[in-house]
Amino acid sequence: MSIAEKFVTMEYGPAPEDAKDALLWLDRHERRFVHFIDGTWRDPAEGIFFDSTDPATGDKLAAVAQGSAADVDAAVKAARNALPKWQSLSTHNRARYLYAMARAIQRHSRRLAVLETLDNGKPIRESRDIDIPLVIRHFYHHAGWAQLLETEFPGYTACGVVGQIIPWNFPLLMLAWKIAPAIATGNTVVLKPAEFTPLTALAFAEICQEIELPAGVVNIVTGDGSTGEALVKHPGVDKIAFTGSTEVGRAIRRATAPSHKRLSLELGGKSPFVVFEDADLDSAVEGLVDGIWLNQGQVCCAGSRLLMQESIAETLMEKIRYRMSTLRVGSPLDKGIDIGAIVAPVQLERIRRLVDQGVAEGATCWQPRTEMPTRGLYFPPTLLSNVHPSSIVAQQEIFGPVLAAMTFRTPAEAVELANNTAYGLAASVWSESINVSLQVAAQIKAGVVWVNCTNMFDAACGFGGYRESGYGREGGREGLIEYLEPVWFKNASSITPSGRKREAPVDGQHADVAIDRTVKLYIGGKQARPDSGYSFEVRGEKGELLGEAPLGNRKDIRNAVEAARKAVWGKTSAHNRAQVLYYMAENLSLRQEEIARRLSAAVGEAQARREVAMSIERIFTYAAWADKFDGAVHNPPSRTIAIAMNESIGTVGVVTPTDAPLLGLLSLVLPNLAAGNSSIVVPSETYPLIVGDLYQIFDTSDLPDGTVNLVTGHTTELLKTIAEHDDVDAVWCFSDADNAASAKLFSAGNLKQVFTNEGRVIDWYDPKQAEGRWFLQHATQVKNVWVPYGE
Ligand code: NAI
Repeated sequence: MSIAEKFVTMEYGPAPEDAKDALLWLDRHERRFVHFIDGTWRDPAEGIFFDSTDPATGDKLAAVAQGSAADVDAAVKAARNALPKWQSLSTHNRARYLYAMARAIQRHSRRLAVLETLDNGKPIRESRDIDIPLVIRHFYHHAGWAQLLETEFPGYTACGVVGQIIPWNFPLLMLAWKIAPAIATGNTVVLKPAEFTPLTALAFAEICQEIELPAGVVNIVTGDGSTGEALVKHPGVDKIAFTGSTEVGRAIRRATAPSHKRLSLELGGKSPFVVFEDADLDSAVEGLVDGIWLNQGQVCCAGSRLLMQESIAETLMEKIRYRMSTLRVGSPLDKGIDIGAIVAPVQLERIRRLVDQGVAEGATCWQPRTEMPTRGLYFPPTLLSNVHPSSIVAQQEIFGPVLAAMTFRTPAEAVELANNTAYGLAASVWSESINVSLQVAAQIKAGVVWVNCTNMFDAACGFGGYRESGYGREGGREGLIEYLEPVWFKNASSITPSGRKREAPVDGQHADVAIDRTVKLYIGGKQARPDSGYSFEVRGEKGELLGEAPLGNRKDIRNAVEAARKAVWGKTSAHNRAQVLYYMAENLSLRQEEIARRLSAAVGEAQARREVAMSIERIFTYAAWADKFDGAVHNPPSRTIAIAMNESIGTVGVVTPTDAPLLGLLSLVLPNLAAGNSSIVVPSETYPLIVGDLYQIFDTSDLPDGTVNLVTGHTTELLKTIAEHDDVDAVWCFSDADNAASAKLFSAGNLKQVFTNEGRVIDWYDPKQAEGRWFLQHATQVKNVWVPYGE
């Protein structure tokens, strides 16, 4: 067809990308890849290989080594050996390696883009214009962080050897998100790429050789889930960073619970794409093309739930259907293609099954009459309407080019529907009213909210989820923190279990001992008797009876959680939170003599006086912080600002230390108060009577009901109930190593965030250890709100 004729028909001709260079590279490696360990290529211990195929054609691209536990062990050892030398390099020298990586990837960018498209099936337009440029930007940006590390993170050190497991949807980009911050902060790495898409990670290994990265700093072990499992369980790994399905994330949470491995999880999503009646509908439709049809919808933050204001629903649906019929499905190497191939048969099968299930549940399925390739793994763009919010296609991640559409009437209803999910990764909000969009952005529970845009990413902006979408962030300052630990904490010794034995419960109504003091539980701003009707004796250091404390149980915790969720504290302004905290300090000072006198029976006079005096100071510290723990405004390369807000987490369960019954408790409750969280607190079993003094202070300081709830009882039992409770958003457990492990294990159900002392000693009297940013960071989660500007 001549060009003149094409102008008449407006038909696309094929525009294939030449894959010769990438194929030559595969040939150069004889289409057979082994592991990259300690700077060299190493045969798999068990000699097993699997195929990596092109999903667009089904052709085998290469044989790739299946990693065994022995291969993982060799890689972890190499990473461990490389650690001292890597850490002794100056930050400038580490920065130079990251910079060299960025430059080398830039040099090979076209070959890497083609390789990615061959292995994954994504359109070349995307790998060339989105994936690889973002990879390069990530290494440049983190070369900068490596340079600034010591001045920007004084007192912090690397975790050590990091195990990283990545998925197949953005293979090289996920590698960059993992490796760049890890090595910039002085860690060494063992990375396992996904079994469907290992090739660009192996090309990256070659780049590590090319730039003469010291051996063992980056190790790549290929294989399937069993290889990942071996890495997760390896005792020589200090931290696991995982991106993938929520199900595997949960398994990793459980597997790492008994260890001190740090963990960050970037999991699935079912992100809402909310369109208000005053939105620019044509822009919203284009946004949707990026939101759900980018990478065939195989995107963790895909805008897969379309929420439309009822008044514009029909108009919008018509525009969407028209636009869908112009989308071209076909060979990913064709530059004019919008939708490429699905990564693997199992994924295609999963998409089909979920769509069928959605239709069986009443959804209406619409697909354009798009010409589909006859060979390869393809699924047409799909629109499901009449979707009930509880339908499987509205709740489960489909990870395919499938949009589920629903309607709403008011902004409040939009927020309710948007949050009607266990996930909380991202959201996209479309309205020409800045007030409406920012108000809705603030209310949606998600780590990233794009206003009038979608699927924007940048190395400077944190990315990561709320709730079952995981925890930890990738990108920016908050992403680096995931790979760092306070030096003092790393070197802290472990708590030796206290010799005090647990007292037998006594029936509160019939106790006939002479009791100094009996306290109650404190729930919803009121003193409450325990559901069990039992108390337990509290004894001093010499075994003398100090009083009785209620034996709280499951039911009391449930009541406390309900009260905490109703508390208005999260909605009060930071200034007001500071005022209440100052008031608390004032009230504690007024009563310091009598409180110290009572506390001295348990911990001796000197400690009691010190604890009370220091507690007053600590309250002042957090009153000061309450209106100062600000976020940031990022400046990504696009004409957009990304507002990084430190948001409260919600309801936090707090298990407090035994060594400082008052100061230890307050050191954990106060950062949560400053951040706007409400809490359910388990006071130390050794001196739970402190609650009597605390609730009097809370009551006289205008602390709203339910903000802090105090449930005394047996720590281990109460911790389990708190960690398993689905309405608790985070657990802080500062007790022994066994309780730290339980906190992690039992919280895996709804993947709540867990912050523990790992059973280590914290000097509660030392402000460098016991207060400040480290605690505030754990009391908040960062939400990045992207807002475009300009014409
Ligand atoms: P997956 O979670 O099984 O795979 C992700 C990575 O984890 C791969 O490298 C895999 O080898 C590894 N892995 C699997 N089991 C493991 C284990 N027990 N321990 C350690 N590592 C393990 O995801 P899959 O099966 O490929 O996809 C299933 C669904 O998961 C998708 O349909 C999608 O809904 C979701 N998914 C979400 C992703 C995201 O970016 N949030 C990425 C990939 C999948």
